[in-house]
Amino acid sequence: MKDQEQLKRDAAAAAFEYVRRRLDDGTVLGIGTGSTANRFIDLLAPLRARIGATVASSDASAQRLRAHGIPVLDLNVVDGVDIYVDGADEANEARQLIKGGGAALTREKIVAAVAREFVCIADESKLVRVLGRFPLPVEVIPMARSHVARKLVELGGNPVYRQGVLTDNGNIILDVHDLMLAEPLAMESAINDIVGVVANGIFAHRPADRLLLAGQNGVREL
Ligand code: 5RP
Repeated sequence: MKDQEQLKRDAAAAAFEYVRRRLDDGTVLGIGTGSTANRFIDLLAPLRARIGATVASSDASAQRLRAHGIPVLDLNVVDGVDIYVDGADEANEARQLIKGGGAALTREKIVAAVAREFVCIADESKLVRVLGRFPLPVEVIPMARSHVARKLVELGGNPVYRQGVLTDNGNIILDVHDLMLAEPLAMESAINDIVGVVANGIFAHRPADRLLLAGQNGVREL
């Protein structure tokens, strides 16, 4: 029986094979954040000579890439991102996601928006019928914390301040419990409309293009 760590490695290895087949000298890779993305980063080292450049969705991932000798560029100096590889906290069959467990959701959303292709990697425990079991991370400007929390309660959620966490952008995270996301597109927009919200962790307007799910019998693609 494979444990979750092995399944994350399997998903990362499948993404690595996918990327390896498509690499050419100018390929710009977007690199996500979290333990599954870290497994992918660690596999990339032997390919560093063939990677044009990377952009990272967090300072932590940029640091890990550089430690492997892989160049990391600012998103503003590249013409585009060819393939973005990242994990997720939850996914549904439509490849819509909840992300942000690692507090990197805003930069992840930006890289996903720019990417021509978004490959999401996860173990199969992340697949759900309806998004919302995982508390939804919302990045908030610090002075708006109470205002945004009240508005999230009006939307039916139960926001909890993530103590001691500041994002790479200097903001705070509210984790919203008890929101069942039967209509992820509408909820993503509604939360974005709250003044003081920087971004929320629903990836429905920009879902993954490929979802590689690792299970006991191998990796399947949705
Ligand atoms: C970070 C994220 C991660 O992709 C998400 O939390 C999944 O992490 P892990 O691969 O460690 O389970 O959105 O902000």
